[in-house]
Amino acid sequence: MDTIGVIGAGQMGAGIAQVSAQAGYRVLLADVSRDRAEAGKAGIGKQLDRLVTKEKIARGDADAALARIEPVDGASAFAPAALVIEAATEREEIKRRIFADVGAVLGAGAILASNTSSIPITRLAQAAPDPARFVGVHFFNPVPVMGLIELIRGLATSDATVAAVEAYAQRLGKQVVRANDAPGFIVNRVLMPMLNEACFALGEGVASIRDIDLACQLGLNHPMGPLTLADFIGLDTCLEITRVLFEGTGDPKFRPAPLLVKYVEAGWFGRKSGRGFYDYSGPEPVPTR
Ligand code: CAA
Repeated sequence: MDTIGVIGAGQMGAGIAQVSAQAGYRVLLADVSRDRAEAGKAGIGKQLDRLVTKEKIARGDADAALARIEPVDGASAFAPAALVIEAATEREEIKRRIFADVGAVLGAGAILASNTSSIPITRLAQAAPDPARFVGVHFFNPVPVMGLIELIRGLATSDATVAAVEAYAQRLGKQVVRANDAPGFIVNRVLMPMLNEACFALGEGVASIRDIDLACQLGLNHPMGPLTLADFIGLDTCLEITRVLFEGTGDPKFRPAPLLVKYVEAGWFGRKSGRGFYDYSGPEPVPTR
């Protein structure tokens, strides 16, 4: 397996392309347009430059990794890829269309994988040409820093597919955990109730944004407080995953906090929209209440 396809050149897709290229894979990178894929590659170039400046990698290795990334135009370019990872927008109809397009050119034996954080793998596999060669590979943000991949097998995923993706993860230097195809898999099943609970606590006036975050950062030794992390992930994404947990289990303990719903309705999505629980318009994030 030498050629990898990555669909989606946003934060997650670019991160997956970067770590794959650094591990020696040739990477075909696509987005909705060639320009977006080129922009994704330019961003990866900046990330690699930062690693060179910090003396984490040699200039020659950074240049070689970047040269292994080839922005491409559309699904037909993925015919040579042994593994294609979809990291597109978290909307099921978009992902299904991608799997149908890529499936039409995918080589015999090639694997199709989704980086979805919340859509059931068994259901998505129905849009792929062969559900036995379909699997969930869930990376974490920021991809170059986070050491984990959740590997989710659908009902039909074959042992050979799981073994091939584990070998890929190992070459990337990531640890693999295997999860069944249950709502939220492992990490989001545990994480989202905590972030949602922090929103309840804020909404009920238990403490300020600063104090909720500082309490968890210093009291639990977490790298970020829960409201900072929710802003980092995106409040729209947090709400979507919490709804998947709520609807997928039918358990009221997963009901979304009203304040989280309100923020998303207001378009306050966190870091990416410039405002969430913090205001990101200045040099440092400022709590909004
Ligand atoms: N890309 C690449 N590298 C990055 C980065 C990025 N976006 N952001 C930070 N880094 C690197 C820095 O360059 C730095 O590297 P060195 O130590 O080699 O210099 C290192 O990470 C630490 O960064 P900083 O010193 O700037 O800041 P920090 O110590 O606060 O770390 C952080 C930043 C790594 C993001 C840390 O705060 C952290 O781990 N936060 C929690 C992140 C987390 O929980 N992610 C999972 C979210 S859930 C998810 O992704 C799944 C889902 O489905 C929602």
